[in-house]
Parts: sequence; C-alpha cells; structure tokens
Amino acid sequence: MVDEGTVSNQSETLPVHPAVKPISFLLGIWRGEGEGFFPTISSFNYSEELQFSHSPNKPVIAYSQKTWNLKSGQPMHSESGYWRPKLDGTIEVVIAQSTGLVEVQKGTYDMEEGVVKLSSELVGNASKVKEITRVFKVENCKLSYVVEMATSLIGLQPHLRASLKKL
Ligand code: HEM
Repeated sequence: MVDEGTVSNQSETLPVHPAVKPISFLLGIWRGEGEGFFPTISSFNYSEELQFSHSPNKPVIAYSQKTWNLKSGQPMHSESGYWRPKLDGTIEVVIAQSTGLVEVQKGTYDMEEGVVKLSSELVGNASKVKEITRVFKVENCKLSYVVEMATSLIGLQPHLRASLKKL
C-alpha cells in the first residue's frame, strides 16, 4: 500500500474502493508451488500463478489462477472469478473452474491476520464434488492456502496446499 486509499497494482497506482481496501493485501501477482492429494487419487505437485486485480473505485477484485505440472510444465487446472468484500468483514466469491465446475463461496476476512476463509454455498455442474472450502493467509509477502473438498464418497478433506510469493 502506498498511501491512504490507493494501492500499487502492477505499475500503476489506482484508487481503491473502501470495500476492497481491507483485503488489498491480496492484490498483485503471486507465483509458487503446491501439492495436491485426496484419499482416492495419487498425490501431485504443481506450479501456480494467481492474480488479484481491481479497477479504480469498484467494490470487486478480479481473480485468476493457472497451474502447471511441476515436472513437465504442462498446463493443469485453471479458474477465475470475482471476490466481493463487504465493509462488515464478510465476503462473497464466485469462481468458474476449467473443469466446468462453478462455485459460490461465502465467508469472512480478517484484515489484521491477513486471512480469508470461504465455504461453498453452491457447487454447480459437478459430477462428484459436494462442498469446497478455501482458506487463504498472507504473511510477510507470502500467500498460502488450503483447499478442502467433499465428494459423493469422501467427507471434507484437503485437496490442495500451496505457498506463493508476491512478484
Ligand atoms: C482429482 C476436484 C483443483 C488436479 C480431482 C477430483 C475431484 C477434483 C473431484 C477426483 C477425486 C476422486 O476421483 O475421488 C477439484 C476441485 C478443485 C480442484 C473442486 C478446486 C477447488 C485442482 C487443481 C489441480 C487439480 C488446482 C492441479 C493443480 C487434480 C488431479 C487429480 C484431481 C491431478 C487426479 C486426477 C486423476 O487421478 O484422475 N479434483 N480439483 N485439482 N485433481 Fe482436482
């Protein structure tokens, strides 16, 4: 953050909407690596880029994610969506995944802790997935997250863990 009400976003300094300001710790481009697992699959490793960006004075953050197989560099999962924080500390997120699955997530953020916690209110167009939770934490220019999912066979369990650094 450069001064009251603005944030450095790539090379520009843009006025930030008051609703976005408390979670402006997310804004920027993040790169890192993650690990995927679930009781029914073989574990795997991936590299990842996340981008959180905003338009001047709009109460919304645009989100995009891309992943690659860590060994081969082949593209894996990708997703994008919109994060809509409210001044009362709640947040609503919509995400469309490259697999066709869509999510409506609701949750809370904690500006002091740099934490956002999300839990699915709706998972659509999914053959197996019943529920998804996501927890993000930003600390010392490092973003880490855990994604858990429940399927028709398995209760809520971690599927992804990753750690990324701000570019
Ligand atoms: C497997 C969902 C994100 C890579 C699966 C399965 C589901 C799933 C339902 C099958 C589990 C089963 O058969 O019991 C999701 C959801 C995601 C997500 C809801 C996001 C919220 C990702 C990401 C990657 C990924 C980011 C890659 C970086 C894989 C792989 C498998 C898998 C490699 C195993 C496929 C196989 O063995 O056939 N995922 N996934 N997933 N997922 Fe994800």
